[in-house]
Amino acid sequence: MQVDLRILRFDPERDKAGHWESYKVDAGPMDRVLDLLHSVKWEQDASLTFRRSCGHGICGSDAMLINNRNRLACKIRVDQLGRKISVAPLPGLPVVKDLVVDMDGFFAKYRSVKPYLINETEAPDHERLQSQSERARFDDTTKCILCAACTSSCPSFWAQPGYVGPAAIVNAHRFIFDSRDEAADERLEILADNDGVWRCRTIFNCVDACPRGIHITRAILEVSSAIVERQV
Ligand code: SF4
Ligand code: F3S
Ligand code: FES
Repeated sequence: MQVDLRILRFDPERDKAGHWESYKVDAGPMDRVLDLLHSVKWEQDASLTFRRSCGHGICGSDAMLINNRNRLACKIRVDQLGRKISVAPLPGLPVVKDLVVDMDGFFAKYRSVKPYLINETEAPDHERLQSQSERARFDDTTKCILCAACTSSCPSFWAQPGYVGPAAIVNAHRFIFDSRDEAADERLEILADNDGVWRCRTIFNCVDACPRGIHITRAILEVSSAIVERQV
């Protein structure tokens, strides 16, 4: 079949604003949008610019706005979208070129919540033991691949770009509820700030966008509750 593919293009050296360009692409129903983008780049216009690495939903580098929803180009297939497909960069983030957005601010917010294990207690001879239920407590939020589909789909983030955003909260949750970690209060204090969890208005766009099926809003509410309980 032939797919009508529209791509929002922007070249900072030539354009003042983005503009749509249309391409006809031969595709099968099981082709992914990433296959269509490769087809355009390799056969029609080598200047088309986008990020991708693993091609299999693991690295998180090819989240884009596809038919008006944030998704991974390497996961969403033609048979799920139909013959008319539009692709634009993630909303709410500065566009560098074509489908590539500047992720520096996104990763700065991620780093701000200390997304790593902090434990100053002397390590035991073997591993720091954890029960199955303790591990299960934060299992869902370990699945994040930092694709930014959630944060860039959030109207609260669009309105208040200082909002730390759902991805950072998900990654804080992963350590706040880890029984081996000792810095939950530090993270909760960071997230109790004006630009922390209280900016979430439970709009749920983030849940819809997440390619890993993470219960993001639930994680945000659990972090909010922990802030209230511990009176951080
Ligand atoms: Fe992507 Fe989901 Fe992680 Fe957000 S929580 S960055 S949508 S994997
Ligand atoms: Fe935004 Fe998700 Fe909250 S879309 S408002 S972070 S529920
Ligand atoms: Fe790695 Fe899509 S290319 S997640």
